[in-house]
Amino acid sequence: MVDTAARPFPDGFLWGAASAAYQVEGAFDADGKGPSIWDTFSKIPGNTFAGSNGDVAADHYHRYAEDVALMAEIGLKAYRFSVAWSRVFPAGRGEVNEAGLAFYDRLIDALRAAGIEPVLTLYHWDLPQALADACGGWESRAIIEDFDRYCTTLFKRFGGRVRYWCTLNEMNHDFQRAYLLGLHPPGLRDTRRFYAAVHIALLANATAIRSFRRHVPDGKIGPVFPYMPAYPASPRPEDVLASENAEEFLQHWWLDPYLRGHYPDAAYSWLKARGLAPEILDGDAELLAAARPDFLGVNYYFSVCYAANADDGAGLAGINRTGAKGSTDVSGVPGLYKTAPNPFVETTNWDWAIDPIGLRIVLRRLANRYRIPIMITENGLGAFDTLTPDGQVHDPDRVAYLRSHLEQCRLAIDEGVDLVGYCAWSFTDVLSWLNGYQKRYGLVYINRDEADERDLRRIRKDSFAWYQRVIATNGGVL
Ligand code: BG6
Repeated sequence: MVDTAARPFPDGFLWGAASAAYQVEGAFDADGKGPSIWDTFSKIPGNTFAGSNGDVAADHYHRYAEDVALMAEIGLKAYRFSVAWSRVFPAGRGEVNEAGLAFYDRLIDALRAAGIEPVLTLYHWDLPQALADACGGWESRAIIEDFDRYCTTLFKRFGGRVRYWCTLNEMNHDFQRAYLLGLHPPGLRDTRRFYAAVHIALLANATAIRSFRRHVPDGKIGPVFPYMPAYPASPRPEDVLASENAEEFLQHWWLDPYLRGHYPDAAYSWLKARGLAPEILDGDAELLAAARPDFLGVNYYFSVCYAANADDGAGLAGINRTGAKGSTDVSGVPGLYKTAPNPFVETTNWDWAIDPIGLRIVLRRLANRYRIPIMITENGLGAFDTLTPDGQVHDPDRVAYLRSHLEQCRLAIDEGVDLVGYCAWSFTDVLSWLNGYQKRYGLVYINRDEADERDLRRIRKDSFAWYQRVIATNGGVL
């Protein structure tokens, strides 16, 4: 245990944990919910680990009261969750489904009764299937209006009870898999369509923020971005440049429009020269520039090393979807960068670098470049957890992971970063989009796997008691 009792976190720090609708709710067709693209995609053989899907997940939809009671017991100050768009608009547009909204009424009221601040994510990848069918989803500008209507419905309904709002979760990560790697719906590999969809998502984010100002003037809103800081694989100038390229294409391409209202120059020029830059219409630049968020949600899991990549070098590779350590291939964009091993850090079974200092680097880069309050909206360790015969889950690696990252948060705050909260990913175990139920992140174990839903019992892991103490001491004892 690391005793930092002399320096607890700032008063009012939001100690939280997170989830996402598709990954925990289950009840995939209950009370009028329509299908999302994940309901469809996950049912196609070969798309997910062992054919796993979110039909039941952790059954949070029916067991939310028990889950909120556990959140109260651990002492959470905040709980980040997402709303399933297709519960609210089963057909994507048209009639609102009152029963869908009513579920989130119950959840939000239960959280508030327990003194837990709801942090509501408007979109965590589960687009209504009807919108994908009607207009091509994020590839059509029509989605901007659909998203705005959906968001406004939630602003009006929950604006008086929810202070923190996240617009879009990790659209870079989702779109890279959806439009470049063929791993998320719609399963494409098309760079031009990727950048076109990115632009539309950025406009949708800005439009939603504009509406938010009208309907929830006292609330706070921002997008969620997963920052994987780029490191040069060596001091060789070509590798340093490759690392800069990765920063610009993988982070700034999103963060600059979100927070500065325009794309970064070098990346835009590179794409334009190759006919890959998105179409920017009259009014787009003004819309982006006018929608400054109140805070940035940051998801942090790992850092990545980059090396120079020749024009005929490595292209994008798939990802580790099994937990077989060492099975991740080199991945890159010819002429720009490619990934390289980092001999100085350990990795998880999914080949993610365990790099707590990387989180501090992220926080400082963001604070310097954008000067915006930050909430860590996800941070955690995906691991194979084991339920012992006497019904316990010992997860010392997760405790070590969370502790070491919180130590770096504390240091970043000392260095001037405006960090308002920290959400462990995840509260209960969740369905990992492509890795099924075997890759666990929760502070609370869910007794199920891909093959058997068992009793879905909630079991406090060792990390639960550890985090409970962290919160009780406001981070004074990590
Ligand atoms: C983030 C997502 O990318 O990382 C979460 O916002 C996701 O939804 C988490 O579960 C961990 O990713 P994975 O692939 O290990 O489940």
